Amino acid sequence: MSGASFSISQRAGRPLQSRKAMLETLVRHLDMIRLTVPLLAIVFTVGCVGTIGGNGGGGGGDASTLTPAQAAAQADWSTKAFPALTVCAGCHAGQVANVGFLVGADAATARTTLLAFDPQVVNTDAPQSSRILTKGLHDGPALDATSASALLEWIQLERTAVDPTGSGSTLVETAQFQALLCPSGSAGSPTCPINHVPLDPAGAPGATIDLVIQSLGTGIYVNQLSLVGGTGGAYIEHPLFVSYPAGADPKPDSLDRFFATKMDEMAGMSEQIDGGTAAFMGFSSADPLGISFKIVEPFRVDPGTGSGSGGTTTGATGCKQLASFKTNAQAPLQNNCASCHAGGNPNATAAMDLTNINAADDATLLLACNQVLTRVNTTDVENSGFFIAPKPGDGTNHPFKFNPLALYTTFHDAVVIWANAEKTSP
Ligand code: HEC
Ligand code: HEC
Repeated sequence: MSGASFSISQRAGRPLQSRKAMLETLVRHLDMIRLTVPLLAIVFTVGCVGTIGGNGGGGGGDASTLTPAQAAAQADWSTKAFPALTVCAGCHAGQVANVGFLVGADAATARTTLLAFDPQVVNTDAPQSSRILTKGLHDGPALDATSASALLEWIQLERTAVDPTGSGSTLVETAQFQALLCPSGSAGSPTCPINHVPLDPAGAPGATIDLVIQSLGTGIYVNQLSLVGGTGGAYIEHPLFVSYPAGADPKPDSLDRFFATKMDEMAGMSEQIDGGTAAFMGFSSADPLGISFKIVEPFRVDPGTGSGSGGTTTGATGCKQLASFKTNAQAPLQNNCASCHAGGNPNATAAMDLTNINAADDATLLLACNQVLTRVNTTDVENSGFFIAPKPGDGTNHPFKFNPLALYTTFHDAVVIWANAEKTSP
């Protein structure tokens, strides 16, 4: 296994004078989160180190007991990162249920809340993937580029503070693996192998993550992504996909899309992870992949219910924009997709069930809407499995592709109105 070798960057262990190198690496990563940052905005603020004695908790303490790296992180938080989040505090300091990641009487307590928040919105293992950076426009606004770079710089400093040697030794991950690609055919056939990624090295003997991987020109497309309990069962939290290009920094999933995923799978059972599809743009199918986790353990019997039946994924919420679904998505889905997905083809129906797409009553139609929504990534709508599968020219082997492209465009432009409404829905 290679658990101890995981390192998102090479810079964490260097002393502060190599901060220039650190910021350069950081800038190279910024395109991954699609920021356009004027270089000036993130330039050199060395000098405020240790001047603020905030009690940060969560690895903090009073100023006299902080390491220089901890002091630097806490000073940066108070002077730059926390002020950059002012625009977010109107909803995230306790006003909206379940997303109170800035709750706290002052900057220091807000920092403690934020670093400990579950599901994790700040990811010190892969700073540039942190949800707080990648969330984008939702019910609240997107971060502007200056605020985003201030936040990213702070998260990098927190990373250095918790892991001064850059060893990533607390990180749980699978061995790196070379993707077996599926250029054609259905999953499990000779031309379409299923990748089985053992969770033994990460802490769940006998369990695997299974996935089918197809190559897109600009990334990889994963479907049938599942947690398989195997002989021991598995409990997982927060899987993060990482690509390892030779001779370059590892590339974590730039969306950290599974940040809220928690699943508990009994031995012998399996279940799709967050709808089972994901497009990792920027990953090359030729480079090794690895999956890191916040937690991997054998199956946890839930002491509360004792039922232990199958897995659960938190963070999944159903459709909130049914009216928009009716206006913009129902007819295009009925006309283009229902022939296979409403029972005509069992594999298609299992992958996305449109059986209820014609329902006259809202409660039943909502079931169809919820199904479709599980195939839409609301953080990266355009690269959702839902749009990639039938899009001509994207190298997936979905059995139906629009032809010509103009028909796809018509379909996309209608349905995307609903998808974006779900994205910005409170
Ligand atoms: C007008 C209220 C409002 C404001 C202002 C706001 N948000 Fe949100 N935010 C929400 C709501 C509602 C949710 C839960 C629904 C969702 O996930 O979209 C949420 C969820 C989130 C989540 C966690 C869920 C996820 O999917 O990642 C993050 C991270 C987030 N917001 C970041 C931000 C940032 C960064 C800002 C400031 C630039 C901000 N928000 C400003 C209302 C707001
Ligand atoms: C000719 C039959 C057919 C039509 C028409 C069709 N699909 Fe599919 N679709 C399938 C099959 C079969 C699968 C399951 C593939 C598998 O098992 O690997 C599938 C799977 C999917 C998946 C799951 C992800 C994946 O890549 O497997 C999505 C999303 C999807 N289809 C979207 C659509 C959309 C959107 C439309 C309409 C624009 C559509 N499909 C039309 C046959 C079809």
